[in-house]
Amino acid sequence: KQAKMVIDKEYRISDIDDRIYGSFIEHLGRAVYGGIYEPRHPEADEQGFRKDVLELVKGLNVPIVRYPGGNMVSAYNWEDGVGPKDRRPNRLELAWRVIETNEFGTNEFADWAKKAGSEVMMAVNLGTRGIDAARNLLEYCNHPGGTYWSDLRKQHGYDQPHNIKTWCLGNEMDGPWQVGQKTPEEYGRLAKETAKAMRLVDPEIELVSCGSSNSSMPTFPEWEATTLDHTYQEADYVSLHQYFGNRDNDSQNYLANTMELDRFINTVISICDYIKAKKRSRKKMMLSFDEWNVWYHSNNQDKEIEPWTVAPPQLEDVYNFEDALLVGSILITFLKHADRVKMACMAQLVNVIAPIMTDNMGATWKQTIYYPYMHASVFGRGTSLHPVVSSPKFDTKDFTDVPYLDSAVVYSEEQEEVTIFALNRHIKEDLKLDINVSGFEGYRIQEHIVLENSDLKTVNTSLHQPVKPHTNGKSELRDGYVEAVLGKASWNVIRLK
Ligand code: AHR
Repeated sequence: KQAKMVIDKEYRISDIDDRIYGSFIEHLGRAVYGGIYEPRHPEADEQGFRKDVLELVKGLNVPIVRYPGGNMVSAYNWEDGVGPKDRRPNRLELAWRVIETNEFGTNEFADWAKKAGSEVMMAVNLGTRGIDAARNLLEYCNHPGGTYWSDLRKQHGYDQPHNIKTWCLGNEMDGPWQVGQKTPEEYGRLAKETAKAMRLVDPEIELVSCGSSNSSMPTFPEWEATTLDHTYQEADYVSLHQYFGNRDNDSQNYLANTMELDRFINTVISICDYIKAKKRSRKKMMLSFDEWNVWYHSNNQDKEIEPWTVAPPQLEDVYNFEDALLVGSILITFLKHADRVKMACMAQLVNVIAPIMTDNMGATWKQTIYYPYMHASVFGRGTSLHPVVSSPKFDTKDFTDVPYLDSAVVYSEEQEEVTIFALNRHIKEDLKLDINVSGFEGYRIQEHIVLENSDLKTVNTSLHQPVKPHTNGKSELRDGYVEAVLGKASWNVIRLK
């Protein structure tokens, strides 16, 4: 099979907002307790943060991390998680039916994020609470001092405000599983009024209005149209969430799932622009894809978990090689939509549907999905270029005309570097790829990184991590063309400088 591509500096989609390489830490399973925070671990620092985990997080260069939920935020009292630790209450955490000790809360997370080199994306509870709790939390976090909540923060040992810029107005409020689920009218009104109050506290913040929980929700896309009608002026972003799984064990179909992701993004953009037109607004609503990943391997095992324990192992998907390929394709999709998708969070970061794992023997390791995420985050900064592609195509159970080649191109003017991310979706055959790079005179191939494996189901575990990238990719530069061979089912990163 043979594909062709033309790339040029002039074919610009948009500057890339680094925050598309964000992630997510929820108070869920072993993400916080036994993940990023484990005071009794030999690698814990003076605040109880695991340094070995922090190192792996830094390797991903994560620009922003969403916190504290997820479903958990919809019944969370943020006040439980601040102040002297010995006075913090144990609570029934209703979303995941566990005990929350509140040993870790807002201030600890702000400190942890600083150490990880990340910004915080904070979510407020619009399930059981509303305007008052949200504006108080914002005052606690961002107001310099001289008021009740900002002085309380100072009393808690934080003289300087955290200055958290990005705030989510609730989480998945259309979901029947959500504590305090809302109709679109109820949510739209509450989100708008909460946003208004929050902006009065701190006009510098950015706000995310809740979109549908996923594209298969019965209320999608009416939810977006109704809620944005209320929140359009106050919000800066609308959220999208989507998880994938290869439940039918049909790998060729599985790797085509980003066709649906692309449709989902385009539909949400259309709704935003419809509301823009309806309101005669000049403002362009941006997209925050603040939960995405593969999530299905652990579904059955989670049904066995006893309720009301502390930090049980929930949502611990063990990812295989084909999951890493789909993750690469998802990141490619965001790059292709860099003009509208300005934030995105891989859900989640540690232990819970995560690229980074720890075990109860104290080890850490990288799951298969760590690598495409790392490559995109490290090399995918700058301007997203539109690659003009011709590729052979295939049909599957759910999709037609799926190109075997899935690709995105990033140009860093500053570093004078071009990175081509290319996925060969064909699970049985190599793909020859000719890339016309004549617009990049003087550039040479720096490296061709490849993630490949003869078995799509290979996994990384604490003992053995066979899925890892190598730099022996086959590509040569000849007469203004990069001639590459993309192995069957492979993720490729071709870097020119
Ligand atoms: O990331 C796991 C869960 O998925 C989140 O808590 C929720 O928002 C979504 O349904």
